[in-house]
Amino acid sequence: MTKKNQIYKCEICGNIVEMLHEGSGELVCCGEKMNLINPKKEEVGTEKHLPVMERNDNKIEVKIGHTEHPMQEDHYIEWIEIITPQKNYRKNLKPTDKPFASFTIKEEILKIRSYCNVHGLWEISL
Ligand SMILES: [Fe+2]
Repeated sequence: MTKKNQIYKCEICGNIVEMLHEGSGELVCCGEKMNLINPKKEEVGTEKHLPVMERNDNKIEVKIGHTEHPMQEDHYIEWIEIITPQKNYRKNLKPTDKPFASFTIKEEILKIRSYCNVHGLWEISL
């Protein structure tokens, strides 16, 4: 059984998918079951991955993380996502970008997630 907003990865080809609608089936890629990526919610190690948010009314700025995460060809933040009750906002990043995203959001924010191509999925709840 999948759940909305879950992230699954194929360990063979690297495909990553996000659930838009939950169902009872099992996700399969390259002939194998895809792995559910459980987000980490506490910092581990010296590199920082948890999103840090600043909010001024509707202007939301998110950086990764308290100490800026590296943005190199082989190790970078691929995307930053904000989840509200009705919408998902995501900024895709390149290694040449800063680990930063800004959004205009009026509604309540439930979660903010980041995805590092080496260290996986990270999440804070608000
Ligand atoms: Fe990382």
